[in-house]
Amino acid sequence: MKVLLLAGGLGTRLRPLTENLPKPMAPIANRPWLEHLITHLREQGVDHFVMAARHCSDVIRRHFGDGRRWGVKIEYAVEPFPMGTAGAIKNAERFFDDCFLVFNADIVHLPELIPLLEFHRQHGGVATIALTEVDDPTSYGVVEQDDTGRILRFVEKPRPEEAPSNRINAGLYILEPDVFRYIPAQREVSIERETFPRLIQDSAGVYGMVSRGYWRDMGTPSRYRQVHWDVLDRRFPLPMQGRQVQPGVWAGEDVEFGKGVLFVPPVLIGNKVKIGDQAVIGPYAVIGDNCRIGARVHCSNSILWDRSVVRDGSRLSNSIFGYRTVAPAGEVFKNSIINDPGEVMQA
Ligand code: GDD
Ligand code: MG
Repeated sequence: MKVLLLAGGLGTRLRPLTENLPKPMAPIANRPWLEHLITHLREQGVDHFVMAARHCSDVIRRHFGDGRRWGVKIEYAVEPFPMGTAGAIKNAERFFDDCFLVFNADIVHLPELIPLLEFHRQHGGVATIALTEVDDPTSYGVVEQDDTGRILRFVEKPRPEEAPSNRINAGLYILEPDVFRYIPAQREVSIERETFPRLIQDSAGVYGMVSRGYWRDMGTPSRYRQVHWDVLDRRFPLPMQGRQVQPGVWAGEDVEFGKGVLFVPPVLIGNKVKIGDQAVIGPYAVIGDNCRIGARVHCSNSILWDRSVVRDGSRLSNSIFGYRTVAPAGEVFKNSIINDPGEVMQA
């Protein structure tokens, strides 16, 4: 089974974290999300991936290469210009001559593929869209279905009064190669705004199946943080790196704690982290590999990516620090998203 990963968006709502990074490469619990997703899909029997990328595509290529380290094959379909979600699929046409799966790579979920594939085979449409249910559907693609599961209407990001239901596009499709005939080449095309409505209008057979289980779009700072709190609370059962050193506190290899360090669970600490005397870490702190935390630092509701440095006495709450960010001593960071020293944005 082949999977196309849509990983070429600009990730504007997560800037500045995504300035030099494709959003699906943002770490979740200290590993790039794409790594978790590829590992999960490999366990579900997927052995061949095509990466549809553009913005910072080199970051993905440098990290995954041909996929051998992950026991899979990874190929790349890099777009010459931003082609949109369907344009990116069209641009990868040469890789697919059989039924294939497409993932919005920024969605955090670990879906089971077999029930979806069976549903798709039984219904025989050109497309099956995995659906999920949310309270507020207005920032997603919303569907209206009949009792057979056929999608009668697909409305992208409707106004509240226009949303036909609370069932939304979960960002996972099963497509037949016939779909390529419906996507014009060499221009930007949105699958949500153009291709799905057109397939529905032509009665090509678009079906939707509700896929249960944890599901979240990580595309805004608050959603990105919430995914982490769900991992720490074990509401989202992502495999944890490291071992539990006290209830609700996970730590990796070679971690050094100073005197009187207090952990307030839940907390996740990566490998080779150093924490200074009397620091208070948690509740809700995720600290990446090789981070340096100074003495008396307080860090709660915050996420530090690998190699961040927080100098003595600083206080962090509700903040996200990108790779290698250095926070000077004695500062207060509240609702801050920083991606390099000196560049601070209020969330
Ligand atoms: N290769 C490529 N090229 N990928 C793209 C492009 C492009 O031009 N534009 C977007 N993507 C990728 C993004 O990286 C992301 O993984 C996915 O396509 C969806 O784009 P987003 O920009 O994140 O869309 P959204 O979150 O506003 O809405 C989409 O996802 C919702 C689920 O979270 C839509 O598919 C909605 O219908 C859906 O409900
Ligand atoms: Mg998204």
